[in-house]
Amino acid sequence: MEERKIIKELNKILTLEHGHLGMYKNFLDYSDQELRRTFRRFAEIEIEHINKVKSAVLNMGGKPSTIVEGGDIIGRLFGITINLTNVQEVVKTYSWVEKKSHQGYADFVSKLEQSGGAMQQFIAEIAAANMLESRLMHLWLDDKLKSYGDHKPSQ
Ligand SMILES: [Fe+2]
Repeated sequence: MEERKIIKELNKILTLEHGHLGMYKNFLDYSDQELRRTFRRFAEIEIEHINKVKSAVLNMGGKPSTIVEGGDIIGRLFGITINLTNVQEVVKTYSWVEKKSHQGYADFVSKLEQSGGAMQQFIAEIAAANMLESRLMHLWLDDKLKSYGDHKPSQ
């Protein structure tokens, strides 16, 4: 993978990571204390993801894509509408988004590893850390989803 392509991919990931932060940053809106606490930490993790990807772009001599905060980035990116009043649906959608994030990172990491090179390996290590965390978030959300069972929770 050549440098220009890596920067382009990282900037795509950066946009997605801003979308992820948008999912969790309103953690205070949830009445479920466990969700509030978890989404708060998830928001912190997403900020870490953004910062890592952003500094990777900068250190490669690239220009990080600027994102206008606010609005439903994830909804726009994936062409979906999230009904925020239905907590079960929120958890289900976020679980799906994190699964996609993990897959995206896994593809990126394997492409980087295939192309060899010290710089590619370095970026792969950064991406692999985010990949693991998106997997952990997906698994937590999936587990939370199972806990709802048949009854519908209110927000
Ligand atoms: Fe993320």
